[in-house]
Amino acid sequence: MPMEEHAAEVLSAATDPVEREAEGSLRPRNIDEFVGQPELKEHLGIVLQAARERGEPAGHLLLSGPPGLGKTSLAHVVANEMAANMRPTSGPALERAGDLAAILTNLEDGDVLFIDEIHRLPRPVEEVLYPAMEDFQLDLVIGKGPSAHTIRLDLPRFTLVGATTRAGLITGPLRSRFELAERLEYYPPSDLAHIVTRSARILDVTLDVEGAEEIARRSRGTPRIANRLLRRVRDFAQVRERGTIDGPVARRALEVFKVDEKGLDRTDGFILDALVKRFGGGPVGLSTLAVAVGEEPDTIEDVYEPFLMQLGLIRRTARGRVATEDAFRHVGSEPPSGPAAARLFGS
Ligand SMILES: Nc1ncnc2c1ncn2[C@@H]1O[C@H](COP(=O)(O)OP(=O)(O)OP(=O)(O)O)[C@@H](O)[C@H]1O
Ligand SMILES: [Mg+2]
Repeated sequence: MPMEEHAAEVLSAATDPVEREAEGSLRPRNIDEFVGQPELKEHLGIVLQAARERGEPAGHLLLSGPPGLGKTSLAHVVANEMAANMRPTSGPALERAGDLAAILTNLEDGDVLFIDEIHRLPRPVEEVLYPAMEDFQLDLVIGKGPSAHTIRLDLPRFTLVGATTRAGLITGPLRSRFELAERLEYYPPSDLAHIVTRSARILDVTLDVEGAEEIARRSRGTPRIANRLLRRVRDFAQVRERGTIDGPVARRALEVFKVDEKGLDRTDGFILDALVKRFGGGPVGLSTLAVAVGEEPDTIEDVYEPFLMQLGLIRRTARGRVATEDAFRHVGSEPPSGPAAARLFGS
């Protein structure tokens, strides 16, 4: 992969087969291997144990949160913990109601049906899900016109795990049919250090505490990024150093790969720069900002904005995106004072 790899690629699920395989081997397999998110793990642990003890499939589970925080991994964890088959699909792959009906009728008792990007399910497909989730039934329409009629089929009892980066786009009826809805949060550096330490063991590379902390600090709170930075640092350590990763080696490597101390990359930089220097700190609409930095509005909203908000560098207001005082400082500008400051930083 080129050195200045594009951040959206870094953040999205791996498409490169080598990267995908690497990601798969680092995936936590059970709840104990899943680091962090203590509240979510507690909820899930209770629900899964209770279902196991009753000999029933677990209730349907909705997972939301930014890319790379472990939604797909958790779906695998649920399947493994329940000793069930994992049947993955995604919202965009289910174009017609029949596509989903075919999958549902082929499920076995206890299967975990994983629907990634569930906010992108077409509405007619979503409507097939309602009775399936609620009563394990499938309504099939037979025939056309006046002679058309509906038959109900019993389905195996399954667990639906839905994942989305956009919880706000899930319709009320769909959301209400999930027994548990959990939001994944950005990970603190201590969790990420734990994750890369485990990954280093699996990858058979020597990583000391300081090296792990250095990578963790710059991983935007995201395990996927932490693992990818670890692999880049490993490459650097192998080619330019003696293979072992300590703090100074990690720092040199991350400098080469242009990952700054807050974990911000070039696109984050473009966004802050445009917001502060071109738009005077805002407010500016999402689509205008997207054009200015040459990104898709969706990518800005799903990938960049949540982290920049988390760092307190931008705010979302009714009138658009606004830079904070820290954002001005980050790009080397003096934050405004007087009425302009009141307008920007006021409320
Ligand atoms: N809590 C965790 N503990 C250990 N490793 C994790 C954890 N969460 C994620 N990972 C690592 O990060 C990688 C990416 O996670 P995953 O694919 O589950 O994210 P995702 O939320 O499904 O992302 P996307 O929205 O892009 O589909 C995994 O392969 C795994 O190695
Ligand atoms: Mg995923």
